[in-house]
Amino acid sequence: MCGIVGYIGKRDAYPILIKGLKRLEYRGYDSAGVALISNNQELNVYKTKGRVSDLENFVIQKDISGNIGIAHTRWATHGEPCSLNAHPHFSSSEKLALIHNGIIENYAVLKEKLQSKGYLFKSSTDTEVLVQLIEYIKISNNLDLLTAVQLALGEVIGAYAIAVLEKDHPNEIIAARKSSPLVVGIGQDEFFLASDATPIVEYTDKVVYLEDEEIALIRRDMDLKVVNLNNVEMTPEIKSVKLNLGQLEKGGYPHFMLKEITEQPDCIHDCMRGRINVEGSNVVLSAVIDHKERLLNAKRFIIVACGTSWHAGLIGKHLIESFCRIPVEVEYASEFRYRDPVIDSSDVVIAISQSGETADTLAAIELAKSRGAFIYGICNAIGSSIPRATHTGSYIHVGPEIGVASTKAFTGQVTVLTMLALTLAREKHSISEEEFLRIVKELNKVPEKMKEVLKLNDKIAELSKIFTYAHNFIYLGRGYSYPVALEGALKLKEISYIHAEGYPAAEMKHGPIALVDAEMPVVVIATQNGLYEKVLSNIQEIKARKGKVIALVTQGDTFISKIADYCIELPETIECLDPLIATVPLQLFAYHIAVCKGMDVDQPRNLAKSVTVE
Ligand code: AGP
Repeated sequence: MCGIVGYIGKRDAYPILIKGLKRLEYRGYDSAGVALISNNQELNVYKTKGRVSDLENFVIQKDISGNIGIAHTRWATHGEPCSLNAHPHFSSSEKLALIHNGIIENYAVLKEKLQSKGYLFKSSTDTEVLVQLIEYIKISNNLDLLTAVQLALGEVIGAYAIAVLEKDHPNEIIAARKSSPLVVGIGQDEFFLASDATPIVEYTDKVVYLEDEEIALIRRDMDLKVVNLNNVEMTPEIKSVKLNLGQLEKGGYPHFMLKEITEQPDCIHDCMRGRINVEGSNVVLSAVIDHKERLLNAKRFIIVACGTSWHAGLIGKHLIESFCRIPVEVEYASEFRYRDPVIDSSDVVIAISQSGETADTLAAIELAKSRGAFIYGICNAIGSSIPRATHTGSYIHVGPEIGVASTKAFTGQVTVLTMLALTLAREKHSISEEEFLRIVKELNKVPEKMKEVLKLNDKIAELSKIFTYAHNFIYLGRGYSYPVALEGALKLKEISYIHAEGYPAAEMKHGPIALVDAEMPVVVIATQNGLYEKVLSNIQEIKARKGKVIALVTQGDTFISKIADYCIELPETIECLDPLIATVPLQLFAYHIAVCKGMDVDQPRNLAKSVTVE
């Protein structure tokens, strides 16, 4: 999720652009850049790896004059974070400069077409392909920029929010969007452009939210003009922004954590985008294609991770062993790195990390690598240390996760692990084609089912009020839901500071049930999958000791609703996908309890978003 800012008007553009980029830095950054048409009609592009402050240092002594410009903070999707891959990107003639937020799925085909016509590329980004395509269409058909952009976007498959400057037309910015947001701010003889209203609200409260496949022609000397890809003029609706700045950075949510819980359907869709085809008949992970033999011939997989990522690893174990019949061990990275493990070149290590900077996980990778193991990374932060330390891997593409308590990254990790297990199983023929297609079909439905669960937010908020002052919780699950119980307990612990323990449900009899009395709330994941009858018995054991049971059940369950104290009904899914559905109510439950307790939900005490030290 990159940040876009643009300005054209009576003021110097650069200060407005830089301030706007800083407002958008929460969206994630790994590089930043700016394009300005200077007072002496030069089109200057300055860009660098790192934060916006690094860009400010980079432009010292440079010509940053001009009252028209575009700027960008990048959250890398194609191509590592570096100055070459940073935006803006020049066209070959250096008369066009473009910035982009989104993913162009057919960029490789377009790139080949342009290379066959002699175009050269400096970066490995999909964005550079787009600006070259626009220039190719413009020159070869002798068109104006707006028409060239319309035709070029008609060839693009994927998501985009773009802004384009043309050196020879210093009075206009062309902007367009599809699936990635773009807002035009309307001031007094000046216009603003941004990925969201955050950088705009301090200058004007009048905004136009561009709709999909709309193109804005933003000129100093005329009203905003909006057309669609067929050049049909649209009537833009000018809205007044009511939100304050703090709220806007959270997309209108009170906390990043709630925003990130709520955006999971879109994030999981993004995670699967380009990897599962629309028909649901195939799953493709480029890392598996590139390293198929090494992965399929592994004697065993060892998953190393910490915290929430370790919980995802437990689910990954179950998936890979069930689908691929390859043994999987799951290790706390902090333990693995110091216990002199038996490991060699027949092993594949999967390192899971949202931040890609966790010290213990990095150390575990280096140890495993030193003993010949093949390392597969599953990370969110593109270009971070762990992806650079691994032999291959798959990004989860859920966008920056700001809340310290991990939510969308967990479901993104589980989604990638599911796709990894499916692709390997298909190659090994260890599951039938019918089973493969059944699972993929269900996996494609997960975003919609997550949306169903999110509609329970108010009900879960009400339920959380009853338990706000509990001192202890037990979370129980079996099979695929046991790691979900652990994850639910961790969410509650880390943001509400209530002591909570997750257990395999059957373990209660081996001691923990001594804890159960009328004061002990017990959350049980009791969906109608796997060992449902056994879980039913476990609930009865809890009730026999007066424990308060909060049960997560499958919609329409009539058994458990009779014995549990509270039930949260979830849409039905298949057993191996239960974690993707059952985790969401537990995230909301922990969130609302913490809010009721007045906790600092996004930055809980004692915790850091990335544990980069031991
Ligand atoms: C999860 O909510 C915690 N913030 C924490 O357990 C986290 O999962 C752990 O520190 C691992 O972080 P990583 O995924 O960035 O490696």
